[in-house]
Amino acid sequence: MTQKITVIRGDGIGPEIMDATLHVLDKVGAGLEYEFADAGVVALEKHGDLMPKETLDSIARNKVALKSPLSTPIGGGFTSINVSLRRHFDLYANVRPAKSFPNTKTRFGDGVDLITVRENTEGAYLAEGQEVSADGLTAVSGSRITRKGSERIVRYAFELARSTGRKKVTAVHKANIIKSTSGLFLGVAREVAANYPDIEFQEMIVDNACMQLVMRPEQFDILVTTNLFGDIISDLCAGLVGGLGLAPGANIGEHAAIFEAVHGTAPDIAGKGIANPCALLLAAAQMLDHIGQPQNAERLRKAIVATLEAKDSLTGDLGGSGTTMGFAEAIASRL
Ligand code: NAI
Repeated sequence: MTQKITVIRGDGIGPEIMDATLHVLDKVGAGLEYEFADAGVVALEKHGDLMPKETLDSIARNKVALKSPLSTPIGGGFTSINVSLRRHFDLYANVRPAKSFPNTKTRFGDGVDLITVRENTEGAYLAEGQEVSADGLTAVSGSRITRKGSERIVRYAFELARSTGRKKVTAVHKANIIKSTSGLFLGVAREVAANYPDIEFQEMIVDNACMQLVMRPEQFDILVTTNLFGDIISDLCAGLVGGLGLAPGANIGEHAAIFEAVHGTAPDIAGKGIANPCALLLAAAQMLDHIGQPQNAERLRKAIVATLEAKDSLTGDLGGSGTTMGFAEAIASRL
């Protein structure tokens, strides 16, 4: 049976890494049918709209999208397309795995294997409530946390732990100081945790969590936290395992899910065919898990690891001199 997914080729290095990823996915034999849709600068040029209605309709219809990075033009009042997409589809869970890979530049060698689950829709990232006083001397920004939002993200983290055989969930907070918002999040996290006696629950204040992540990252399994802390922590975790070229992310909601690389459009290397396709490939593996093909997801991850181990056709960011498509072919040949 084939499954149709929406594919957004994106801007900058987007089309290059997407072509490479689809080449590997075809070889996986996951039975996917691709519905291509435009977004970002390409869409603005073609349709006069950064996020055309046809693209939103396609994602709503297929419920699953694989997306390359998009650039939001600077200035001109454009809201980030990524933020708009997350809001439009209420993609409340941002799921970012960080795992050590062989032959990557990292301070830790191996031993990192954790997932950050970040609340993606509320917290400090509200468009409203941002103000600067008329004299420019005072700035105020709001934050809103809800019981519903906290409950569903913490539940998501525990369900993810159960479905992936992970043993521990750490709720990261600052409830000792930010008693209202972070306090509500922590209180709800404790309540939800009580329903999962099979999974160890740990609480950690965000500043300590950052230090512990750098000192002893192996103690973590799944971290769950609010929007701003999750944004920062997941980049810290990407740094632990060798940087952006290996960092995938999933944005998951009740009615749709969008899988993407964490990195951006890399304008400095766009069009040169030298971008690392691994982050998007790892996002594609998350997508295969999501659509009920965990065996194919694992095959894909193993082929990536074997290619890194063999140092076969690695791209420049990993210390090699390979091309995007050459790297993808080396991975495909190990499937
Ligand atoms: P960036 O992630 O595009 O680039 C940062 C550095 O990492 C650059 O030196 C780049 O060459 C390198 N890099 C990134 N991905 C790479 C890959 N796959 N292989 C090898 N090297 C790689 O971040 P930057 O420069 O801050 O943003 C550029 C544009 O991307 C902006 O317009 C921004 O809005 C957009 N962006 C889009 C995102 C998305 O669609 N999810 C996320 C982040 C940024």
